[in-house]
Amino acid sequence: MSEGTAQAVYPPSAEFVSQANAGPELEQAAEADRLAFWAEQARRLHWDTDFTDVLDWSDAPFAKWFVGGKLNVAYNCVDRHVEAGNGSRVAIHWVGEPGDSRDVTYDQLLAEVSQAANYFTEIGLVSGDRVAIYMPMVPEAIITMLACARLGLTHSVVFAGFSAGALRSRVDDAEAKLVVTTDGQYRRGKPAPLKAAVDEALGSGDDAAKSVEHVLVVNRTDSDINWTDGRDLWWHETVAKSDTAHTPQAHDAEHPLFLLYTSGTTGKPKGIVHTTGGYLTQVSYTFHNVFDHKPGEDVFWCGADIGWVTGHSYLVYGPLSNGATEVIYEGTPNSPNEHRHFEIIEQYKVSTYYIAPTLIRTFMKWGREIPDAHDLSSLRLLGSVGEPINPEAWRWYHEVIGGERCPIVDTWWQTETGAIMISPLPGITETKPGSAMAPLPGISANIVDEQGKSVGAGEQGFLVLDKPWPSMLRGIWRDDERFRETYWSRFADQGWYFAGDGARYDDDHALWVLGRIDDVMNISGHRISTAEVESALVGHHSIAEAAVIGAADPTTGQGIVAFVILRQGQEDTGDQLITELKAQVSKDISPIAKPREIHVVPELPKTRSGKIMRRLLKDVAEGRELGDTSTLVDPTVFDNIRRGNKV
Ligand code: WTA
Repeated sequence: MSEGTAQAVYPPSAEFVSQANAGPELEQAAEADRLAFWAEQARRLHWDTDFTDVLDWSDAPFAKWFVGGKLNVAYNCVDRHVEAGNGSRVAIHWVGEPGDSRDVTYDQLLAEVSQAANYFTEIGLVSGDRVAIYMPMVPEAIITMLACARLGLTHSVVFAGFSAGALRSRVDDAEAKLVVTTDGQYRRGKPAPLKAAVDEALGSGDDAAKSVEHVLVVNRTDSDINWTDGRDLWWHETVAKSDTAHTPQAHDAEHPLFLLYTSGTTGKPKGIVHTTGGYLTQVSYTFHNVFDHKPGEDVFWCGADIGWVTGHSYLVYGPLSNGATEVIYEGTPNSPNEHRHFEIIEQYKVSTYYIAPTLIRTFMKWGREIPDAHDLSSLRLLGSVGEPINPEAWRWYHEVIGGERCPIVDTWWQTETGAIMISPLPGITETKPGSAMAPLPGISANIVDEQGKSVGAGEQGFLVLDKPWPSMLRGIWRDDERFRETYWSRFADQGWYFAGDGARYDDDHALWVLGRIDDVMNISGHRISTAEVESALVGHHSIAEAAVIGAADPTTGQGIVAFVILRQGQEDTGDQLITELKAQVSKDISPIAKPREIHVVPELPKTRSGKIMRRLLKDVAEGRELGDTSTLVDPTVFDNIRRGNKV
């Protein structure tokens, strides 16, 4: 039996269908006239100046959407809900890790975003300047993003789990003038320093980050911190004392809203550029339709961190542009214990819950008695993002968390796509566990072979986006060449965007994303490039060469496995060396990039042209028989690897 017919399908209930935001007419409208459809979606927003053209693709692959239009993102996310009489609605139920909490209404959000906008103006920031945000999940992080958007400052959020070195390279690349941070952050019940990493990153004297004028610090943990007079500023002494009224200016639809650095296939992270009108149109549209959002009724919770694109699009711009009420949780799912998420769902009556498969698998490991101990009946829709969801995790999510009544939207997208691209629509699609199903109305995707020919059912191919979309990346910050090369060179003749993922259709034309086919790993839904980890490892004085692969891992999706060769004359000090190497990766990149295993090997398998055969290393790491070794210079390498290292 083919896979397509063997799969059980899950149609939405009649009750869900009858109230769903998106019905078949949405698909019909997009099919009838794609650009008119997007114009209509754009008009869900408030435009100060209407656009004259929906799309200008004449300078492909550099797109312009909603040409000539002007709007203010913060006005769309905050002010207009207040003006519509919904100022007392809670925008954010914020839950701190140690048990503190705060509800922020749209009225309050407007006042605080205005204060930050006034203060940023006072210290001389003007539209087009860059601001780096290195913060845990506190309300001020979102307030800062919105204040930047309000003023046309381009923000660059750097995940607070990244190291000082990673922060510095991003600050330098973007030439950020302001860095916003906190003194510390709560991690598993204890305050951990954060400002110290900013101090280390920015350096001093000759080594100081040249672009940075100020560091603005939110007091989160009451920790003692070092202070650089003239550069450092306390939020509570500055922003919090500023005027709460601020009049927003409209910005061009193509004004850069944010940069977000993501791993590519080389060691240097690339600054993905997103702009204003198209980005907000698509995040707002997808939030409304994929999450079937009902303002004033639903309570939405996206478990992502603001340091990733999911946090940008579905914790800030998507929900707030729709006037949503959402939960923002500062901490980890097992702090103080494994009940935390379910207590929050119960307490705030969360109706829509959007997390990564790795967390679902972690919940499965902890056992169903934990969610079973809570009243989760407020949930009506579940979402998944960041990696392929295995059918077993899908079914567990559906049954145990969703009580078999909640549709699941398995949403495929990327930092580069800005918003959800391929996903079920919860009131229409008969879903299959593990499949992202089909492109959304207005989005066009295909699965093709090397020559660009559509593949047949069951065949694996390259996932491509064959028509531009509003929230598409507009480039890589200051690197047009890399932008063309990375995304647009593989199918240059056709002018298609290559996503880096493999995929296949089943017999019912449902789309299955199979994961990355380039040198990007996916660890717990985080993108990490093999090259980045390799370059950190060879940064250690004992290491001559390193090869890194992502090996299948039952919980994290993939786990990082490294093979290293010692430099001549260096001694293998066993556990000590491994500990040092892991520390080196943590320091250079982040603890999330720390290899699960490191094997010291006498040599690496290479092709005659000198390319490391990662596929074969993957076979070894996953305990498989070796694949084709005929292109290897020396096929006996593997005997040495296996013998020497008990792999
Ligand atoms: C993977 C996260 C399968 C994919 C929003 C993609 C997925 C990369 C899914 C982007 C999904 C994301 N099913 N794979 N539903 N969602 N991916 O930039 O490999 O952090 O290319 O964006 O995650 O990761 P990024």
